[in-house]
Amino acid sequence: MRIKEILQSSAAIGKNVETKGWVRTKRGNKNIVFVSLNDGSTINNIQVVIDASRFPEEMIKQITTGACISVKGNLVQSPGKEQSIEMQAEDVIVYGSANPETYPLQKKGHSLEFLREIAHLRPRTNTFGAILRIRHALSFAIHKYFNDKGFYYLHTPIITGSDCEGAGEMFRVTTLSATDPPLLNDGTVNFSEDFFGKETKLTVSGQLEGELGALALSRIYTFGPTFRAENSNTPRHLAEFWMIEPEMAFFDINNNMDLAEDFLKYLIRYALDNCREDLEFLRKMYDEELLMRLAFIMENNFARITYTQAIDVLQHSGEKFEFPVEWGVDLQTEHERYLVEKHYKKPVIVTDYPKTIKAFYMKQNDDNKTVRAMDVLFPKIGEIIGGSQREEDYKKLKKRILELELPEKDLWWYLETRLFGSAPHSGFGLGFERLVLFVTGMSNIRDVIPFPRSPKNAEF
Ligand code: 4AD
Ligand code: MG
Repeated sequence: MRIKEILQSSAAIGKNVETKGWVRTKRGNKNIVFVSLNDGSTINNIQVVIDASRFPEEMIKQITTGACISVKGNLVQSPGKEQSIEMQAEDVIVYGSANPETYPLQKKGHSLEFLREIAHLRPRTNTFGAILRIRHALSFAIHKYFNDKGFYYLHTPIITGSDCEGAGEMFRVTTLSATDPPLLNDGTVNFSEDFFGKETKLTVSGQLEGELGALALSRIYTFGPTFRAENSNTPRHLAEFWMIEPEMAFFDINNNMDLAEDFLKYLIRYALDNCREDLEFLRKMYDEELLMRLAFIMENNFARITYTQAIDVLQHSGEKFEFPVEWGVDLQTEHERYLVEKHYKKPVIVTDYPKTIKAFYMKQNDDNKTVRAMDVLFPKIGEIIGGSQREEDYKKLKKRILELELPEKDLWWYLETRLFGSAPHSGFGLGFERLVLFVTGMSNIRDVIPFPRSPKNAEF
């Protein structure tokens, strides 16, 4: 039986069961030993009571923090205050011992920085168990939300020849020799000899292919890994992160904002309903305001303002920002957090950004200066979603691609959808780790993904 099952059912009392897991702590004396056992199914441990006289001393010695054991025994009402059920061991097998001299996860609390260095073992801590279970629950909820709404999950490619965001922050994928690649006459690498016969990269976003799906199935979403070679060593950026990108035909930017708000509220509600114990643990250990912050999302209608209004608010705030504010600059996290936490005191959606700071595919407004972009801003995090209505007009889109000197030859298929049955459509991208960061109340994005990838770090 998994430990979660045992602890949940009072009917289990009196039963003889077998359970397996990793030892969290061991205490007692030479006659009686108490072991707290955890198998990751829940944050709670089961207490195993071992009558030492019934087992070889050598074996009892091997049961130390970190060891993996299997126990068979009777479930009884516990006389202790800490737990209601405990197990009286009849059979014990030690699968794997863990030398107390070298096992790094001893009972004392460890810093999150230290745990990052032992990412192969940190899933065995209470903190990472809770985070990983919440991460799972949120992934499941994302699929459930879209499935219930009639969206189709579209698998977009990981390897691509096009740069969706046009920011040039992509990792190259190649089988050419690093030391002696084939060259063209001008000395540049001859990618026609590469595996795909052209230069290819890891995708920064599934959106462009997502649009192709939406212009056939009407409503799709992607949920996959994305990669950015931006050298941002911040607590909110990863080089490899997961993104959810819904794309909807016949949605304008208002429909898009409605969906984003409903979606985020649904996910937070789902976590509150399904991950109570883990959230409660994280609140207690890391962030007293966690549940309040989650309620803040549930209870407020998101403010909806234009970029121009946002700049106006920031300029009149009397606040001294590290990055000065004027019309045309991109909003920094400090600006985003000011809008949400100090000014509006609600989640905020900012729309209609200057076209110069947004990607080529966004629908151009008539003012010729702004595009129909929308960023959703959350407390503590800043931007959690970025999206837009898309430019569906062939001529305008092509003009923008040329203006930005993007390689038109790599985007011919994208442009062609605007020639054949083009339609108004919109979509957005939710950074999955930003969501998990928000829901768990952690402060560093490297602590909400099992094996983080960031500049100078690809261990594990
Ligand atoms: O704003 P971004 O760059 O938008 C896109 O990629 C669009 N193609 C999305 C769309 O319209 N379909 O990224 C979307 C979200 C951000 O709001 C942020 O939450 C997250 O992805 N994100 C990152 N998360 C972790 N590490 C990074 N380096 C991230 N860059 C973006
Ligand atoms: Mg963005």
